[in-house]
Formats: sequence, C-alpha cells, structure tokens
Amino acid sequence: MRYDLWTKELAAQAVDCVAIGVYEEGELEGSAAKLDHQARRRMSQLIARGDFSGRAGETLLLLDVPGVRAPRVLLAGLGPRKTASRRSWRRAIGAAIGALARTRVRSTAIAIEPPAGSGLDSYLLARSVTELTAASLYRVNDLKTGKKPKPPALERVLIGPVPAGEAAGARRGLTHGAAIGAALRVHRDLANLPANVCTPGYLGRRAKEIADAHASLRARVLDETDMRRLRMGCLLAVTRGSQQPPRFIVVEHRGGRAGAKPVVLVGKGVTFDTGGISLKDPQAMDEMKFDMSGAASVLAALTLAAELKLPLHVVGLVPACENMPGGRAIKPGDIVTSAAGQTVEILNTDAEGRLILCDALNYARRYEPAAVVDIATLTGACVVALGAHHTGLVANDDALAQELLEAGRRADDRAWQLPLTEEYGEQLKSNFADVANVGGREAGAITAAAFLGRFTEGLAWAHLDIAGTAYLSGTQKGSTGRPVPLLADFLIARAGQLP
Ligand code: BES
Ligand code: MN
Ligand code: ZN
Repeated sequence: MRYDLWTKELAAQAVDCVAIGVYEEGELEGSAAKLDHQARRRMSQLIARGDFSGRAGETLLLLDVPGVRAPRVLLAGLGPRKTASRRSWRRAIGAAIGALARTRVRSTAIAIEPPAGSGLDSYLLARSVTELTAASLYRVNDLKTGKKPKPPALERVLIGPVPAGEAAGARRGLTHGAAIGAALRVHRDLANLPANVCTPGYLGRRAKEIADAHASLRARVLDETDMRRLRMGCLLAVTRGSQQPPRFIVVEHRGGRAGAKPVVLVGKGVTFDTGGISLKDPQAMDEMKFDMSGAASVLAALTLAAELKLPLHVVGLVPACENMPGGRAIKPGDIVTSAAGQTVEILNTDAEGRLILCDALNYARRYEPAAVVDIATLTGACVVALGAHHTGLVANDDALAQELLEAGRRADDRAWQLPLTEEYGEQLKSNFADVANVGGREAGAITAAAFLGRFTEGLAWAHLDIAGTAYLSGTQKGSTGRPVPLLADFLIARAGQLP
C-alpha cells in the first residue's frame, strides 16, 4: 500500500474514488461541503431525497459526479453530529475502506475530517487513517480450501485535508501508521494460527525469521536444557504435561545510545491452554489458541521498533509452552521453585500464565531495564471487570502507568488501571510455600498481578492483562492485534518521535 497526502483541490484529484463523510442530519461540512458545491449540489440533493441517511457505518458509491475528476464518490455515514467522537469517526473510516475493498478501486482520496474537539492533530489523523486502512484490509490467513475471494485492489490512499504547516507532522504520521499496520498484521497472523501449527517451536522460528529480516534485531531461542540451567522451575512445571518442547525467546532491538538501559517487553506465550489437570470447561476452549497473544504483541512491537529504526534499546522476552494434562503434568498442590528462588504452591494448574511470566520477569533483571512491561491474556476476571473495551493495567510505578495509559488514549487502544495495594498480595498466602499461584475468586485480575509483583520488586514494572481485548469471540472470532497500537505509541513516545 502506498500512502500520501492530498493537497489542493479534492475535486481535481486524479484517483479512482474520493471518499467524504456525511452526518446523519444530512449536513455536509468542510471538504464534503466544498465538493458538493463544486458538484452542483449533487450530494445534498441525493441526501434531501432520502437516498442516504448518514447513519454510522452506512456507505454509498456514486458514479460520474459532475465537477469531480474522480469517476466515483463514496459517501460514508458519520452518525449524529451532536454525538460525533473519535470513535464514530474511526468507524466511518473503517466502513469507507471496507466498502472500497469490495470494489475494483485502486486509488482513493479520503477526505473525512475528524470532528472538532476530537483531539486529532494532522499527525494522529494520518497515523489513524493508515492504521485503520491496514486493519480494514486485513484478511485472516485461513485454511479454507474453496476458491479464495479476490484480494482488494486498493493500492494507493491519499489522506487529507492537512492544513499548510502541518504537512511534516502528517507525513510522519503516515510512516508511523503504516508501521503500526504492519505490526498489527504480524500479531494477528501469529495469533490466528491454530495451536497445532503455532507451537512454541514455531514461535521461536518466527522470531528468528523476523530478526533475520531486520538489521537491528537479534534473536536467541533457548531450549529446555537452558531453562534447567537457569533454574526456571515455574516455566518447566507448566510445560511438563506437554509433548511440545518449550522455548524461551529473546529478541533484541539495538537502537539507542550504547549502554542505554532497555525497555523490556515480556509476552505470555502459552500456545494452547487446556488448564492442565485443573482442566477447563469445553465451552470455547478453542479460543485458548489465542493464549500466546502477549507473545505475538512482543514480536510485533520489536518488528515496529526495527522498521521505524527507533533510537531505543528494546528487549523482548517470550516464555513459550503448552499447558496440557497428562501423566507427567503438574498437579494441584505441587510445589516448585521459581528462578528467583521463591517456592510456589500450584493450587490451580490453570493459573499457568503467572508461572511462566515470573521466571521471565526474573530473567529481565540481567538487563537492568529502564522499564519492564508484561503483556498477557492472564485472567478471565479481567474480562469480567473491563470487558473487551479496556486492557487491564496494573503497575508498581505510577509514572510508567501514566505513560502507558496516555499511549493507549493517543492510539485509541485504551487501558484502565486497577489498584495494587498490599491487601491483594495477602490473598496469595500458602501454608506450604512462599506463595500460592491463586488467591481466590475475588479480584482475580489483581491477585494475578500481585503474584507477578512479588517478582518485580525494585524494577519499574507494569502489567497489561489483554484477556478481554486481544481477540474477539463469536462470528467475529479472531485476533484484534491489541495492544500493538498502545505499545507502538509507548515506544514511539519513549524514542522522542512524537511531533
Ligand atoms: N489464559 C487464561 C485466562 C483467560 C481466560 C484468557 C479467558 C482469555 C479468556 C489463564 O491462563 C487462566 O486460565 N486463568 C484462570 C486463573 C484462575 C485459575 C485463577 C482464570 O482466569 O480462570
Ligand atoms: Mn490457564
Ligand atoms: Zn492461560
């Protein structure tokens, strides 16, 4: 896909299509009003006749509109003007790209202005449109054997209007948005794979491939022998029931000053979570192939750091294994020793994410990191608390928490902070070991984070629980790529590359 800005006259653009927005009251504003005027009010007449209502998500393709050089004009409904928001605007852009993808249009100018007060400057406007274009054109790498539908013909998108003086910021937005779009694809392609393909070994091979394709990246893949040497007793405990060999993946992007302290991203890579001996309910168990979405986020974020050549040192750590029942599997009540030396009583083998993460978080210490962020589909309790709308955020460092919340707001990939006071840690007391791996039904998302908090003392650490946001269920089943936009913004901001 090629992206650029459209400048000067919209009516004179040499493209296959021009897309404008229409509010529900039929009002045309900004670029749309101007185009309507040049088209001798063709669009407003059509709206007055009641042929297009401007409802959110509605689109209509018009042919050969007088006064417009492009052979097509696409109307995209923005919904009611009064309640217009960044969200309704984004929906209209997504619907417009979706409608164009069903045509043979190869190039389009998009002129759908964000509503006043939405806080989108030209940089964020350009970044959003490129990112939304990539997201709307994404097709899952399915294994259906029937005839594949033709891929969308769209290959060139012009974005505007951009006021004079903001072109440089907008161009930077194009570059960043395209990289976010590419990173989203890395994440979604990996997470959508079935667990019989996407094994820990597969994740390791993909990490190597990604590193080979980028000069700034190095990948190392550790095996079970290495894990034993590193005394990763919790990771080894989870993988015991599985026939698939586990992997511990380390990917490094060297961008910053030599000696700069890195940002370490840690991603949960459970390629399938049956629950182990504490076996899960069969309902929707297939969705546990998405339990490596944290790992996918980390590999995607490293790809983005490399593609944008961010002047930052970023390390990605991925503990990868399966959680299976079996004759050798860990049992409720088993006690194991973590890499940090703490003993852990495993009361529920389905609380495996925190076990593999605690050994990875301990490994992060060797980098003397500036910040550590773990990303994990960690708890059903987080889905109950926040639904599919916000990622759960828990941190031991308030500046880092604010940084991530702010990144989520800018990227429209929001997180919501939950408290981490000492009471929650008290729920994890064990009669037989230093700590238990579960803390009862109450505040499950927070007690899971409190478990991780025992292994991140002295580090600036934040935890993102993406159990509700990483993928959709039902007829829309599939990876969303979240929280790649949040992580991308976080890294871009840390690298000082926001305008
Ligand atoms: N991978 C699951 C969490 C999960 C649940 C993700 C639903 C997405 C949707 C995790 O390993 C898990 O099983 N957590 C348990 C913890 C419990 C045993 C304390 C849970 O949430 O039920
Ligand atoms: Mn589990
Ligand atoms: Zn899990």
